[in-house]
Amino acid sequence: MTRLSVNINKIATLRNARGGNIPNVLEAAINCQKFGAQGITVHPRPDERHIRCSDVREIRPIITTEFNIEGYPSPKFLELVAEVKPHQVTLVPDPPDAITSNSGWDTKTHLSFLKDVIAELKSYGIRTSIFVDTNLQNIEYSVETKTDRIELYTEPYATMFEKDPSVAIAPFRKAAERALELGMGINAGHDLNLENLRYFAQNIPGLLEVSIGHALISDALYYGLENTIQMYLRELRP
Ligand code: PXP
Repeated sequence: MTRLSVNINKIATLRNARGGNIPNVLEAAINCQKFGAQGITVHPRPDERHIRCSDVREIRPIITTEFNIEGYPSPKFLELVAEVKPHQVTLVPDPPDAITSNSGWDTKTHLSFLKDVIAELKSYGIRTSIFVDTNLQNIEYSVETKTDRIELYTEPYATMFEKDPSVAIAPFRKAAERALELGMGINAGHDLNLENLRYFAQNIPGLLEVSIGHALISDALYYGLENTIQMYLRELRP
């Protein structure tokens, strides 16, 4: 079954809007796991406008599931993950001022950089994933980096799903099939929600993990965090 990793950046965004410690990010991570999430994802950005490096350090010891840290592999980011040693690092190509991740890696152009970073992460015993779109060239160059997994950037799926689910899923299925042939594991994330998640999980072979933040935390405003996590888990059940 596909694992649900809850991205808790939005909890930190809300906290940072006021200073102080409400809502409490650490407590949210503990509760997400208690309510059934199979992983916690954080995305520390250079300006620390959501999750801070200090949050990442505080969260590490309370993880009972799987800790996934996403980010651009700057020297500071690599120092942080070397210290914290999460189970998985997902590399994203975001410029520092990006509102949210808005593209995958051009794995051909950045091959040698990615190779070096991935070798470094593996030397710490960390599983690696790289954020990519469905372009088959990017999938094929991903395997050269020696990454364990790819994370498919699902924003284009989510946008097209509203018009035509079968058109939306087609390139993702092809990309996943190619990644599996090449021996890489498959994660996915971005703009997945209660409407589009089941169809995605049912049609993507070998989908190991989804990381979901924005929609899930927004749904929690209406349904509560415990119910919401259960609702997402239900969508992932075969
Ligand atoms: N995966 C990556 C690489 C991301 O940058 C994000 C957003 O931080 C997500 C998944 C989750 O996207 P969303 O918040 O839209 O669920």
